[in-house]
Amino acid sequence: MRNTGPITVRKLHPLFGAEISGIDITRPLSAREFGPIRAAFEEHSVLVFRDQPMDDDKQIEFSENFGPLETTLSANPAAGTKFARQSNLDINTGEPIPSDDIRMIYQKANYFWHSDSSFKRIPSLCSVLATRICPPEGGNTEFCSMRAAWDALPPALRATVGPMIAEHALVYSRNRVQPGILSAKSLAEYPPVRQRMYRDNPINGRRALYIGAHCGHIEGLPKPMSDALLHELTWRATRPEFTLSHAWREGDVIVWDNRAVLHRATAYDAVKHKRLMQRTTVAGDAPTVPQ
Ligand SMILES: [Fe+2]
Repeated sequence: MRNTGPITVRKLHPLFGAEISGIDITRPLSAREFGPIRAAFEEHSVLVFRDQPMDDDKQIEFSENFGPLETTLSANPAAGTKFARQSNLDINTGEPIPSDDIRMIYQKANYFWHSDSSFKRIPSLCSVLATRICPPEGGNTEFCSMRAAWDALPPALRATVGPMIAEHALVYSRNRVQPGILSAKSLAEYPPVRQRMYRDNPINGRRALYIGAHCGHIEGLPKPMSDALLHELTWRATRPEFTLSHAWREGDVIVWDNRAVLHRATAYDAVKHKRLMQRTTVAGDAPTVPQ
């Protein structure tokens, strides 16, 4: 495909998400070609591209249009690279990992609604996830509009939450699947950070609730009150009408705005089927509050 015409933007949900067609993103993009994609990203929060067979080099090149990439943390099999590998295949042998292996248990934290890298002092801008090997069924990725969630909060609750600061850490999401699963090295690598309870889009001013599974505690509240408030906010945010579910095909690439959506993985038959997804993560440019 030659990138000569305008892109087509087809909305996937009344509130957010769009499928982008009419462009080959596996080729290097000029600033003129990327401009409309970036504009669609700011507007729709989740962009789905079909039939874009990526390899690692092409995925990095496409992702870097959005900004510098994060380097993957030590808990991922692809540590030290630009890829967070999501797979049931051993990175060295390519064979399925047994379901009771700690590497498979660790990945189950992805079943909780979260925003990638919210546990970092400077949280990410967006994630780019591409299929390499795709099971024939299951394994949808689901997204939730946190702009819709913010807008739907009762005004008194919005006013209460607005000034609050939350503590995020990788250990909070990982301990939900198995307490103590993180190594001492990982714990030291990512100490808790402070995040505002919302993120604003600098282009269009849209405000999004900012919580998720890495969010463990709201500063200044006793634990039972903090737990109850985070539970209520999550319950209000993740109602079905604010979510969309993507069934993957090989060649799919999705870019999502970690400032504006939560996402989660869903189960597939990891004993019967092979799956390999590669994620690149585009770094943010500033902390949400002073650390
Ligand atoms: Fe994720």
